[in-house]
Amino acid sequence: MKGVLITLEGIDGVGKSTQHRLLEQRLRETGLTCIVTREPGGTAIGEEVRQLLLKMREEEMALETEILLYAAARAQLYKELLRPALEAGKIVLCDRFIDSSLAYQGYGCGGDLNYIKKVNAGATEKLSPDLTLLFDLAPQEARQRRGNIDQKSEVSDRIENRPEDFHYRVREGYLKLAAANPVRIKLLDASLPAVLLLEKSWVFVKELLEKKELL
Ligand SMILES: Nc1ncnc2c1ncn2[C@@H]1O[C@H](COP(=O)(O)OP(=O)(O)OP(=O)(O)O)[C@@H](O)[C@H]1O
Ligand SMILES: [Mg+2]
Repeated sequence: MKGVLITLEGIDGVGKSTQHRLLEQRLRETGLTCIVTREPGGTAIGEEVRQLLLKMREEEMALETEILLYAAARAQLYKELLRPALEAGKIVLCDRFIDSSLAYQGYGCGGDLNYIKKVNAGATEKLSPDLTLLFDLAPQEARQRRGNIDQKSEVSDRIENRPEDFHYRVREGYLKLAAANPVRIKLLDASLPAVLLLEKSWVFVKELLEKKELL
């Protein structure tokens, strides 16, 4: 496909949404337009699935259900937004993608990695991002950052509320994914100030856009 898909990954509270905003702004300043979206969600149907996944509930959601619901929202995003945008040569910035399923439901919850890969390949016709920016931060620091948000009265969700050791496994999982995919996944130190982190991310984004002759 002619366009480029750039995904942002990392544990909850690491600063993905902040970098997403800054990158969008940088692209605009450079004279480029981009489409921004997030997972789970990004479409009307996907946002409904997001509610199902993230709302606090009494019952345990089965891991298999969780895996399939994330893939279901992703399938909708792919059909409705990603594929048409990428076919039209657009730049798409997506807050989370398949690596999140591997890190959270795979490494975090102990789900079968090959099964998760297979389900998601089916949901997206094997779409893989052109570039993934992985923001890495110690879970305690990420929790502290999230704490600042919670004080601003945004309630935390079902996944964020999982115990500390879950977030450790997710972080380790992300690091394993980065080690296994060194060309696609760029590891970034999210403890840096946001503006510095943007400059580090921009080096990789710029390189990709130049390679694709979009810049
Ligand atoms: N580089 C940074 N240094 C210090 N604080 C930061 C940095 N980036 C973001 N923050 C702050 O950390 C908090 C979490 O940031 P943000 O919402 O961008 O994280 P997130 O990864 O999108 O979280 P979530 O997974 O919950 O969506 C915010 O209060 C934000 O202002
Ligand atoms: Mg966010």
